[in-house]
Amino acid sequence: MERFSWWQKGIIYQVYPRSYQDSNGDGIGDLAGIHQRLDYIQSLNVDAIWLSPIYPSPMHDFGYDVADYCDINPIFGSMDDFDALQEDIHARGLKLILDLVPNHSSNEHPWFVESRSSRDNPKRDWYIWRDPGLDGGPPNNWLSFFGGPAWTYDEHTGQYYLHQFVTQQPELNYRHPDVLPAMLDNMRFWLGKGVDGFRVDVIWLMLKDELLRNEPPNPGWGGVKPFESLQHIHTQNLSGVHDLIKQMRAVLDEYNDRMMVGEIYLPNQDLVKYYGARRADGSFDECHLPFNFQLLQMEWDAQTVQDAVDAYEAVLPEGAWPNWVLGNHDKHRVATRIGQAQARVANMLILTLRGTPTTYYGEEIGMENVSIPLEFVQDPPAVNQPEIAHIVGRDPIRTPMQWNNSSNAGFTEESIVPWLPLAADYQDRNVEQQEKEPTSMLGLYRALTGLRRSEPALAVGDYVSVGTNAANVFAYQRSAAGVDSFLIVLNFGEQSHTLDLSQIASQATIAVATDMQRSGVVDLSNLVLGPNEGLVLIRYK
Ligand code: NOJ
Repeated sequence: MERFSWWQKGIIYQVYPRSYQDSNGDGIGDLAGIHQRLDYIQSLNVDAIWLSPIYPSPMHDFGYDVADYCDINPIFGSMDDFDALQEDIHARGLKLILDLVPNHSSNEHPWFVESRSSRDNPKRDWYIWRDPGLDGGPPNNWLSFFGGPAWTYDEHTGQYYLHQFVTQQPELNYRHPDVLPAMLDNMRFWLGKGVDGFRVDVIWLMLKDELLRNEPPNPGWGGVKPFESLQHIHTQNLSGVHDLIKQMRAVLDEYNDRMMVGEIYLPNQDLVKYYGARRADGSFDECHLPFNFQLLQMEWDAQTVQDAVDAYEAVLPEGAWPNWVLGNHDKHRVATRIGQAQARVANMLILTLRGTPTTYYGEEIGMENVSIPLEFVQDPPAVNQPEIAHIVGRDPIRTPMQWNNSSNAGFTEESIVPWLPLAADYQDRNVEQQEKEPTSMLGLYRALTGLRRSEPALAVGDYVSVGTNAANVFAYQRSAAGVDSFLIVLNFGEQSHTLDLSQIASQATIAVATDMQRSGVVDLSNLVLGPNEGLVLIRYK
């Protein structure tokens, strides 16, 4: 295991700071709150904490609109709170990953304030400004992910500026020679303070077509999300973006053992290019991990998932390290997408696959989407597009962590109104409750993470899928030289199955079962798998 880095053998746990723990009674989570919960995070056997943005921000996109890249938002605390949190994280042998948002800043960032002040300001071209189109409208047909055009007109200087998210998130112009160096300095600021890495927001969007050509219509558009009505060939995945990422990687390489995980939604063949080129020492020269979001968006059946895992394994460049994600602050929660029983199977899957797993806070207790009353809806894509809010709104997946059954679930003081409402079921589904139940989702999560940490074959071993004679069952082996191998068998459906896996061995021992009850030795020629059941099997004979 020694030759593997923490970001390869470890598990990443994503905390959405607004929603984890409020320590000062304002209904919004903060750094001191996260600090109070470090015992819990450590008890999950995870290795790194990724914090969504904690920088000063007017919060038009809940922190993804950064007004100062090198400070802490007072909503979340002070730089002292940050230092204390980081010190404790490191003292526990954990790592800290910050969110870096280089594609756009807030319109309140001093760079943009200067840029918009006049057409001849030296920072004018740090952002993407253009004259109106011939009809006086936006310069081209580009769209915002959050609804409407990607351009906003600025009365003061008579030009439009580009923003692919909310209008308060102007896009930085990485064709200007001074912009990337400035962003690299922001990285150095945090790396110098000891941060272990960055999750880089929309890294694949950082460069745009220089000629600002219109994007062609998308013939496959389903008619639901307007943003998908175009093919984003001039705003996404431009080849020049790789050069920017190489320079970011070079900064990380100035420090010891740091990493960057890039947010990228692309098909495999494009995604894997974001590892960059392999160097003589075996490392790559772009992202350590380009996020692999396939499990977030696919049909949930054994064949589809197995095909996806096999295809991804096959397309990975030699030596590139895989990763898997079940949820994040942008996508519907896994337990809502596939149900509680399958959410157990899903946790067993990502905690036993080859590659770094990322857990979104609350997945370990099966938190679900929370339906948000109209007066609480705050997320811009939902506010801007009320007719599709139930599809694009992200408030439902960002609700307060469910710690216990007191009012406000232990997230904030009982008299306070939390920034988003709590799940209706929080009194049954919370950490304290699940700690009392050995068969809970939390119990399962800890059993799986504990096993992954102690077993090299699970943490870093090889993966190979295994054919079974049953529909809707996915089986695979994980093995490494000189240590115990594992056979994982997952039933994605409601039917039970009797499997013949005697080609592998005659018997095996259950290491973890999704129901947290089944144990003992099983006969592999006649293995009965119950509905929604998953087994991690060890020491086969
Ligand atoms: C991706 C982030 O994950 C999302 O939450 C944010 O709204 C956009 N990027 C814009 O920064």
